[in-house]
Amino acid sequence: SNIYSVAVDGPSGAGKSTLSKEVAKELGIVYVDTGAIYRTIGYYIFTQGIDPKDERAVAAVLPEVQVDMRYGADGLQRMFLGGTDVTEKIRLPEISMYASAVSAIPAVRAFLLEMQRDMARRSSVIMDGRDIGTVVLPNAQVKIFLCADVQVRARRRTLELEQRGTPKPYEQVLEEMEQRDWADSHRSAAPLRPAEDAVVVDTTNMDFAQSKDAILQVIRRRT
Ligand code: C5P
Repeated sequence: SNIYSVAVDGPSGAGKSTLSKEVAKELGIVYVDTGAIYRTIGYYIFTQGIDPKDERAVAAVLPEVQVDMRYGADGLQRMFLGGTDVTEKIRLPEISMYASAVSAIPAVRAFLLEMQRDMARRSSVIMDGRDIGTVVLPNAQVKIFLCADVQVRARRRTLELEQRGTPKPYEQVLEEMEQRDWADSHRSAAPLRPAEDAVVVDTTNMDFAQSKDAILQVIRRRT
């Protein structure tokens, strides 16, 4: 068939979601933000007062978690927990650490795997995350590993938080980003790393338009 998948992996703040969203619009394909799915689980664990690092406690409540993703009229992904729209709530800064902690638990990753693969079976997608090219969609036609120096990523994230009305000092953003990078790439369950056949796109010295062009070029070369 002519359905294809684009996997975009990389550390936080590399611009994965903003760029993937734009590229999806340009190519007329579906954008899937898998970080939002982990954030939804993290948010649930947070509301239940469970320690996100307690593997057994988290695994024990998974069967009761009812997580859904739906697409609005604007084509954008919205996340639901037990039927309630939590799209905005999962962006609260404290939920990042919860998402990162629960995502290291193999039972959580297994729980979410089919949901992600199913999206790619239904339509052409550009899916972003940490293990899309390595684990979720190993047969994706295009794999991109998006990265940038941590200082540059922290600066971009600081600006983004400011624009969202939830500002945080740069130094703190940088420290938390370094912690999350370390945790995401050193965990034993699906650690963050480029797939062997991924094209590395380093956006340290690129602006948004240049990054978008670089990604579109890689996709057009391979589809
Ligand atoms: O991409 P985002 O920052 O929203 O993801 C939140 C957290 O979810 C990440 O720090 C990472 O630990 C986890 N995650 C993951 N695998 C994915 C997507 C996100 O482990 N495919």
